[in-house]
Amino acid sequence: MTLQSFFWASPAVYLSNERRASRKFDAKNGLPPATPSPAPPPPRKVASDTTTELSRTPANGGTPNPQNSAPEASNDNIAAQTFRFRELASATKNFRPESLLGDGGFGRVYKGRLDKPGQVVAVKQLDRSSGLQGNREFLVEVLMLSLLHHQNLVGLIGYCADGDQRLLVYEYMPLGSLEDHLLEISPDQEPLTWYARMKIALGAAKGLEYLHEKANPPVIFRDLKSSNILLDQDYDAKLSDFGLAKLGPVGAAELHVSSRVMGTYGYCAPEYARTGHLTLKTDVYSYGVVLLELITGRRAIDTTRPTDEQNLVTWAQPKFKDQKRYRELVDPLLQGEYAEIGLSQAVAVAAMCLQEEAEVRPFTTDVVAAFSHLTAASTDSEGSIEKRVDGEGKPDEKKMDGDR
Ligand SMILES: Nc1ncnc2c1ncn2[C@@H]1O[C@H](COP(=O)(O)OP(=O)(O)OP(=O)(O)O)[C@@H](O)[C@H]1O
Ligand SMILES: [Mg+2]
Repeated sequence: MTLQSFFWASPAVYLSNERRASRKFDAKNGLPPATPSPAPPPPRKVASDTTTELSRTPANGGTPNPQNSAPEASNDNIAAQTFRFRELASATKNFRPESLLGDGGFGRVYKGRLDKPGQVVAVKQLDRSSGLQGNREFLVEVLMLSLLHHQNLVGLIGYCADGDQRLLVYEYMPLGSLEDHLLEISPDQEPLTWYARMKIALGAAKGLEYLHEKANPPVIFRDLKSSNILLDQDYDAKLSDFGLAKLGPVGAAELHVSSRVMGTYGYCAPEYARTGHLTLKTDVYSYGVVLLELITGRRAIDTTRPTDEQNLVTWAQPKFKDQKRYRELVDPLLQGEYAEIGLSQAVAVAAMCLQEEAEVRPFTTDVVAAFSHLTAASTDSEGSIEKRVDGEGKPDEKKMDGDR
């Protein structure tokens, strides 16, 4: 089954306000071919019933073809392995609490070690109460990640569909999610440096650029947020969670695809929330929100703050108009350790991504270019951003005092 034929054959998705819906699995849903196995409280989801059913017409019937001119991308459709439930139970030591890495709208994520070849993995177990929507997201995730490969997308190793069990096996990302390092840090945890933040912004933009500009037809990620950006030991970012991803408009005649509104509050583009019209620029808006989180260290929606500060974009937007006010946006945990020029550029990119009018938001390629420039500018003569990420180096740009 190709990705497109799967989508065209599927009925419009029924939304649930939370992904933990109470409906049962749809046992009729098939799975894509796979190679045999060698051996046996997060942000709430947006839901709206106001929009229309899928209205796309495929211009071609083929499989999305990542046209990977970039060296980091691969054209191979690497088939995911299938696993038996008992293999994954053994890999995670029976899903014991000590193996738990996190809990999301889909279910729980555990750290595990496969018998062969002893590889460390992350195993996501679909909550059995997540019903039809959960099963659909499982299928979309397997299909998307079997076809799309890039160094800034998390790698899918395989899946398990034994009986009513649904599990996904991913490459293990040792630093967990951006949310863990930016928004949920404990007092003894080192905050991310400015350079780490810019490096993560670049990695996430490259992942999105691949989906938007290199995959054919393009893929709209639809659920970009800090918990879906995972980090490896070098703070290289990888996008994860393709369960809500959608094929984008195909050809000049199609300006958008229509779908029921799904995503996460606080990250959702205004026109998408209003009309259900989904375009690549919907993702660009969500990227702008993540970028704002990186700059400010604030959550997209934070109900613990005063009313006028609870929505990050609404709070930040008046400050975009006056460059002198940019410093008010900066995460106090940075203690003034950031480059003034870098801040101006990062805020300018965020402001462009967050524009009301979708058409005038930048393309992801433009965002990648801006951040490539920014991170290159902050790399010292030894070419080491990582040094500063780990706190060993000092910025060579002018330090800006956030209190001035
Ligand atoms: N491949 C992975 N490697 C390491 N940790 C992971 C991996 N995937 C997920 N995690 C951890 O598990 C947590 C939960 O992830 P999950 O995707 O289930 O939920 P979420 O992103 O918070 O919400 P949502 O279900 O809306 O995407 C993440 O925040 C991260 O800390
Ligand atoms: Mg996630």
